[in-house]
Amino acid sequence: MHDIRIGLIGCGGISGNHLPQIEKASGGVIHALCDIRPDRLKAAGDRYGVPEERRFTDYRDLIALESVDAVDICTPNNWHVPMAMASVDAGKPFCVEKPLGLNYAETAELLRRTQEKNILSMICFSYRFMPAVRYARHLVDEGFIGNVVNIYAQYLKSSAYMPGRRLDWRFDKDIARYGVSGDLGVHILDLTTFLAGDVTGVFAQIGTAGPFRKREDSEEIAPVTTDDWCHFLARFAGGASATFSITRAAYGNRNHIMVDIYGDKGALRFDLNDNTKLEVHRPDMKDENAMEILTVPEEYHAGQQQCFIDLLHGKKDIYLPTLEDGVRMQKMLDAIMDSAEGNIWVDIK
Ligand SMILES: NC(=O)c1ccc[n+]([C@@H]2O[C@H](COP(=O)([O-])OP(=O)(O)OC[C@H]3O[C@@H](n4cnc5c(N)ncnc54)[C@H](O)[C@@H]3O)[C@@H](O)[C@H]2O)c1
Repeated sequence: MHDIRIGLIGCGGISGNHLPQIEKASGGVIHALCDIRPDRLKAAGDRYGVPEERRFTDYRDLIALESVDAVDICTPNNWHVPMAMASVDAGKPFCVEKPLGLNYAETAELLRRTQEKNILSMICFSYRFMPAVRYARHLVDEGFIGNVVNIYAQYLKSSAYMPGRRLDWRFDKDIARYGVSGDLGVHILDLTTFLAGDVTGVFAQIGTAGPFRKREDSEEIAPVTTDDWCHFLARFAGGASATFSITRAAYGNRNHIMVDIYGDKGALRFDLNDNTKLEVHRPDMKDENAMEILTVPEEYHAGQQQCFIDLLHGKKDIYLPTLEDGVRMQKMLDAIMDSAEGNIWVDIK
């Protein structure tokens, strides 16, 4: 089969991660680009050598272009489902950024339509591609830590305090729906459920660090309507109990991601800023206070966009994050919102 010709929509922050990966990947090429902002479209188009006639400001034109084989959706959250639906309607495979959508219902409908038309897809839960996470999954499957008892997951950033930051889409409920819960939390939720199975209930608290910001296009002050911090207690189907601490209001943390998983036979710890290493503890280690640092073997290294391209060539990665995973996470995110709003424990069916 020829190289997969990919059309990418949304030439903002995360495209700076997808585009170089596609450029480097084998079996796929950057074929067309779309952004509503002409400056971003031009910058990405010039950088990756995409000719003017394959640069679009309306995503429907990109999807309709016959030579586009697959679509890569990198826009804010409110556009994920409509753009993925348009891909499905055009019979084209797609990968889509996280969270999958704005609520469980719309993502479940997307899944139904995608399955009905037998369209290949992937959700970009990027942490699934980190070597430490993949190696941890291998160790869990081998019984290295036994049954998971407790999980402590932290994702701390200071991005709410970025000097001069205005009310961009991440602070606007109508566009993002979720704040850090869906932006950062969904990553560690996917990663922990990937290793420890489904979450069956949550009790969450959410809040904002700064309730008002200046709009992006004027000096008007408007309310922040998404969460700057989200803390929750979770129960897993296998019986494990977990705490999650997620915030963009933690000075001193550019991007701190730490996950500890304790089982009845051992422990795993990740610091995902150094994701080629995995810390482990086994009961036979002399120092009960020590963690051994393992360097992850080469076979557990993988690239997200390469895996998407491979999928379209008929080679599915064994740990590929699927649309079903996206829908499961959406159910959990909605339960987190319901719990925080009602100040109640919410069971997840
Ligand atoms: N997987 C990860 O680790 C990761 C990291 C960062 C962001 N993301 C996700 O990627 C998505 C984008 O985030 P970002 O940080 O790149 O945002 P961004 O604001 O930097 O970029 C989004 C781009 O989409 C464009 N856009 C908006 N509406 C559009 C439309 N209707 N048609 C075409 N283009 C449109 C904007 O002009 C902008 O250039 C979000 O869903 C976010 O959650 C994922």
